[in-house]
Amino acid sequence: MDGTNRRTFLKTTGAAATVSLAGCAGLGGGGDEMTIVAGTAPGFPPFEMKEGGELVGFDVDLLEAVVAETDYTLETWSEFEFSSLIPALTSDKIDVIAAAMTINDERDQTIDFSNPYYSADQSVLVREGGDFSPSELSDLSGHKVGAQEGTTGADQVKKLIEDGTMEESNFNTYGSYVLAVEDLQNGNIDAVVLDKPVAETFAADRPVNVAFVVTTNENYGFGIRTDDDDLQQALNSGLSTVKENGTYEDLVNKWFGAQN
Ligand code: ARG
Repeated sequence: MDGTNRRTFLKTTGAAATVSLAGCAGLGGGGDEMTIVAGTAPGFPPFEMKEGGELVGFDVDLLEAVVAETDYTLETWSEFEFSSLIPALTSDKIDVIAAAMTINDERDQTIDFSNPYYSADQSVLVREGGDFSPSELSDLSGHKVGAQEGTTGADQVKKLIEDGTMEESNFNTYGSYVLAVEDLQNGNIDAVVLDKPVAETFAADRPVNVAFVVTTNENYGFGIRTDDDDLQQALNSGLSTVKENGTYEDLVNKWFGAQN
């Protein structure tokens, strides 16, 4: 189901086939060219998380709403660790990443992104009522700090190590931010660097606090393969439709409304 196959298919059968293809999504033993598989990394509330064994969250609802506006059919969701999502995409295990993934130059060299769908800064989470209350990144010096592997939060910590502010041995990486926050609660680390909306979600139901915000102006986009221009265009137009028709705002209220 990669973009090349689909383009070859369209070239040989003509673009009019798109309509009937969309109409018979699910038939044809998985060989349907308009069916896509989404990949995400749960444990990042409220964007993607497991609730009673079910994958839920803003990204899940948003991507489903966006794809519903296109000729594509979302067949299923596959779960990975965050750092495995880009390799899963480039090896055709999935067709789109919806994982609060920040659009940045490094990732842009390997994959493409949809237009931005959410903006966020980084923040630093500490234990509630603890002695450690940093107010800027340099205050993390001499403390144990955690982040999820492969994230922009981890990049912030790496910069502190590179400029000599932090010791490499004080940096703990985790496969998921849920594990990092558990280690923070347990006192194994003193701070976690992560996206602010997620930090606020953890702070709302665990004994942890946002100590300070690091302004990074990150934008999240859906990740797609560089050769999947048709899917990229479809997602971008689906995204503008859900923004115009109020669905996007409804989902923001549903997943972020009760906060603060
Ligand atoms: N926005 C950050 C990044 O792109 C963190 C994303 C983590 N996402 C997740 N589903 N765990 O690196």
